[in-house]
Amino acid sequence: MPKHHDIVDLYDSLFEMESQFKKDASYPIHKRMNFGTAYHDIYDFLLSKINVQNKTILDAGCGVGFGSFLLAKSGAEHVKGISISSKEIQRASEVSKQSQTNNVSFEVATFDDTQPNQYDLIICIESLKHTLNIEQSFNQLLAGLKPNGILCIVDDFFDENHNKTSMAFQKDWHLNYLISLSDLKMGTEKFELTITDLNKWMYPKSLWKINFKLLLFKIFKRNSNFTKLFRGGLLLDKLYAQKQMKYLMVQIKKR
Ligand SMILES: C[S@@+](CC[C@H](N)C(=O)[O-])C[C@H]1O[C@@H](n2cnc3c(N)ncnc32)[C@H](O)[C@@H]1O
Repeated sequence: MPKHHDIVDLYDSLFEMESQFKKDASYPIHKRMNFGTAYHDIYDFLLSKINVQNKTILDAGCGVGFGSFLLAKSGAEHVKGISISSKEIQRASEVSKQSQTNNVSFEVATFDDTQPNQYDLIICIESLKHTLNIEQSFNQLLAGLKPNGILCIVDDFFDENHNKTSMAFQKDWHLNYLISLSDLKMGTEKFELTITDLNKWMYPKSLWKINFKLLLFKIFKRNSNFTKLFRGGLLLDKLYAQKQMKYLMVQIKKR
């Protein structure tokens, strides 16, 4: 079973690797989408669906703050970005200081630290799958919403039977499980659910190219954190190419 420090190590390693060649100090850590000219990325897409004006927002699993800054600039009252990686939070805090963005703050924290009844909007972009206890984190995040608040989760959802690829992916990325829609249990009398399938905006990837790259990983047996990150990414691509994974935006509104 993965431990908290495995996931911290994974994101600290990713930061050490990516921050060296990214041209912006605060960069996105999520799938590149084919939205054409309509939206730049998934946060931009989200902004077109949810009004953030004067809202108090938690960007739960904020990476180096890319989305937090976008939300802050788009009229939010205040955005708090949290991540388990102190390296990511240090970078996000530096950018915030330099850019003198007053309505954003960052903190090393987990989903489970969310205080009740605090936020109009809680956003988890490709972060919730890393929780070690989906039931606990999901309930804690829901409790963090004020009345009429919205929890918006964008992530890889797996509702199939497990296979070699899904198990290898889970292992490489230290995921306790692959989240499925059935994990999001809530009382329907209190919440309103909207699901948007984002698969149609994903770039298609060739299965044979993915398999070829995976073969190279098999030949050059390495098991560093970098290897796990790359190979895990390829295994995830393979699950999408085989139509076993769904990229969904799930909005849950507290009535
Ligand atoms: C794929 S990155 C996404 C970052 C950001 N949302 C973006 O799209 O640019 C996942 C983020 O979730 C964070 N994370 C993982 N497990 C977490 C947990 N239990 N609580 C809070 N954040 C977590 C990671 O540290 C990382 O910042």
